[in-house]
Amino acid sequence: MTAQGLTARRGGPLRGVVRAPGDKSISHRSLILGALADGTTEVEGLLEGDDVLATAQAMRAFGAVVERLGDGRWRVQGKGGFAEPADVVDCGNAGTGVRLIMGAAAGFALAATFTGDASLRGRPMNRILGPLGQMGASWVCRAGGRLPLTLQGGGLQAIEYRLPVPSAQVKSAVLLAGLHAQGETVVIEPEATRDHTERMLRAFGATVAVSDAGGERTIRLAPGQKLRGAAIRVPGDPSSAAFPLVAALVVPGSEVTVEGVLLNPLRAGLFETLREMGADLAYANLRDQGGEPVGDVTARHSALKGVDVPPERAPSMIDEYPILAVAAAFADGPTRMRGVGEMRVKESDRIALMAAGLAACSAGVEEEPAGLTVTGTGRPAAGGARVATHGDHRIAMSHLVLGLAAEAAVAVDEPGMIATSFPGFVELMRGLGAEIA
Ligand code: S3P
Repeated sequence: MTAQGLTARRGGPLRGVVRAPGDKSISHRSLILGALADGTTEVEGLLEGDDVLATAQAMRAFGAVVERLGDGRWRVQGKGGFAEPADVVDCGNAGTGVRLIMGAAAGFALAATFTGDASLRGRPMNRILGPLGQMGASWVCRAGGRLPLTLQGGGLQAIEYRLPVPSAQVKSAVLLAGLHAQGETVVIEPEATRDHTERMLRAFGATVAVSDAGGERTIRLAPGQKLRGAAIRVPGDPSSAAFPLVAALVVPGSEVTVEGVLLNPLRAGLFETLREMGADLAYANLRDQGGEPVGDVTARHSALKGVDVPPERAPSMIDEYPILAVAAAFADGPTRMRGVGEMRVKESDRIALMAAGLAACSAGVEEEPAGLTVTGTGRPAAGGARVATHGDHRIAMSHLVLGLAAEAAVAVDEPGMIATSFPGFVELMRGLGAEIA
């Protein structure tokens, strides 16, 4: 990869068997819970992307001993709590990292200053500062709840918090703060979001009660629970597996298997949607890995048709709409994505950038305040554009996949950002036969 950008063009079929990198959500959590716990946490399959490496560095700053033992093998010696960092904590590009760490840090009597890259410094932190403030944390920050921000934690009171936006990051920040609050912490989710924090808290020995009633999910965390170090095997990231799998669906003659993909139903909305579009996606070797469902996923080139994606599915595929929009550009008819306003506050405004990128590639696209409609003709998209990614890894990978099947090549700027979530993406895709230069 170079600073000049990357170009993907149509070549032969994609074929092969690969492993997706470790799940980003679970990787962040394994380091943070490992640092909060007493004793040793051993992690296998950790995502060694820039986002997670920033979290590893942050956990060192809060007093944990974090060591890399080998490829994806990490050890965290937790001290049963966080100590005050001696310097500013830089979370890089990682919204999940900074929001979960701020939640965890709020439980301790310490001051910590957080910052990140230009994208992270532009993202809203008010969504976690609201509930953390109700619990008793205080802070100073830039206008609009933006980083850099100095948080003062300690002396928290538990709250009952109903999520105003379907965000696992907000839920997780409240639960992690609740570990060190007085009283029982309750989070109510009108729409269920990824539940890795709940699952992993249990793996670290905590009791977390989850109940579903009237379409809502309620999570209860009793106070005063001690976490004990655990052994974590991180499954493959479905959000990363999505790129080679969609590439196989749109490049004629392709067949690609991604092994060991996390198939937690709260993460698998893309695969469900692709199947509704007519995708030949097969699951094999379904198994349980450390309390999470995992399987091998095979995609074969398929004639896709446009569908309406149910808005209530959004939390289970929120990071996958950019690559779904690419699949939709090769489908026959409109694919309507609604209720996806959260896409606008990710690493970039992903509705605006996908609309711009697809339009530049002459695909039929309409942008809505909280939605995107992509209308394909069943024939390859034209392509032939250079796309501005605004430093967003998923915008870059999505357009490179588009270029692999489009009539003319597609180029992206800032490809270095791909390493935040998918180090080795270009090499993996080339290994399948992709022409990316
Ligand atoms: C994540 C939750 C999602 C997702 C992000 C990872 C997590 O964000 O977009 O990439 O690990 O909890 P929100 O919870 O804010 O939707």
